Amino acid sequence: MHLEYLSHFIRTQQYTTPLNWDEIFQRQAKLAVEIGFGNGEFLVFLAKQKPEYNFVGFETSITSLVKIQKKIQAESLTNIKVALADGRFALREFFKDNSVDEVYTNFPCPWPKKSHQEKRFTNQGFAETLSAVLSFEGTFQLVTDVNWYAEQMKDVLLRTKCFDLVQFTENDKIVVGTRYEKKWLSEGRKTYTVLVKKINHMSVNRWTWEEGWMPHIHLNEVDEQRLLQLSGKVFRDQRGVFVVKYVYTRESEYLLRIVSNEEGFQQRYFISVEREKDGWLVKLDPDAPAYRTPVVKFSVRKIAEVIGS
Ligand SMILES: C[S@@+](CC[C@H](N)C(=O)[O-])C[C@H]1O[C@@H](n2cnc3c(N)ncnc32)[C@H](O)[C@@H]1O
Repeated sequence: MHLEYLSHFIRTQQYTTPLNWDEIFQRQAKLAVEIGFGNGEFLVFLAKQKPEYNFVGFETSITSLVKIQKKIQAESLTNIKVALADGRFALREFFKDNSVDEVYTNFPCPWPKKSHQEKRFTNQGFAETLSAVLSFEGTFQLVTDVNWYAEQMKDVLLRTKCFDLVQFTENDKIVVGTRYEKKWLSEGRKTYTVLVKKINHMSVNRWTWEEGWMPHIHLNEVDEQRLLQLSGKVFRDQRGVFVVKYVYTRESEYLLRIVSNEEGFQQRYFISVEREKDGWLVKLDPDAPAYRTPVVKFSVRKIAEVIGS
């Protein structure tokens, strides 16, 4: 589905990181972020309630982006932008230190299986990201129906020594008004609110902030036989892994479909290998853009190394 026609949608891969939010909103204002806004009830409610704030919502579901758009348009709101992105990655990469005033997440999937735990928000990396990007006294609020998840979130945040616990409550009434909250309360479940305030700062390493990297490598010769045999090959370095899913051919051009994974952050993109007047060009294909993370850079370099002859 093409999302570009949606006026509040931002295609974050097209920006250099961190994003200039004042420019994107065309005004300077406090920033609030919701991760996993679902149908968008809470984000739209907040944006109406606090017109002086700029709101950014991250979702991994395209359906959610389409649904919230209708609500934003119905309310004629100009202080919301939404993006299709993993909120944990986005919070770390798209925002400068001390620049976000409020972060919210409501009813995230708890990923109860141990094998899925890297998908949870209750990990140290996310707590450190919050302690970097939140402004001093900025807040993070989690609402969940899962008691152990709330406890885990509280513990991981407090362990950083960067937060004061403002609230840890059990609720039997509406707090955020979202679809999942209504669903769980109607089934007689309780919900839990964890609210913390930043009191200390921590710096975190950003994967995409390094400048001066051009995703282009020139080769004089290419071993086309070897290139065609790359399908299914897996390459690793210390930061992560990428797989060449398929190699497509078209006249004097090859397109490699890649899936990369670094610490659970998955990207799907293409690397193209094109014949030029004086050789070949290996580059990230702009039609399915990827964030320039260490593994993405490694993948371009590695493919060029393997096929160069
Ligand atoms: C259980 S639903 C809750 C939706 C909404 N907050 C509510 O309370 O009704 C979880 C939502 O988080 C989104 N999601 C899951 N992982 C995410 C991530 N890493 N970044 C952003 N959104 C995510 C899912 O697509 C889904 O819409």
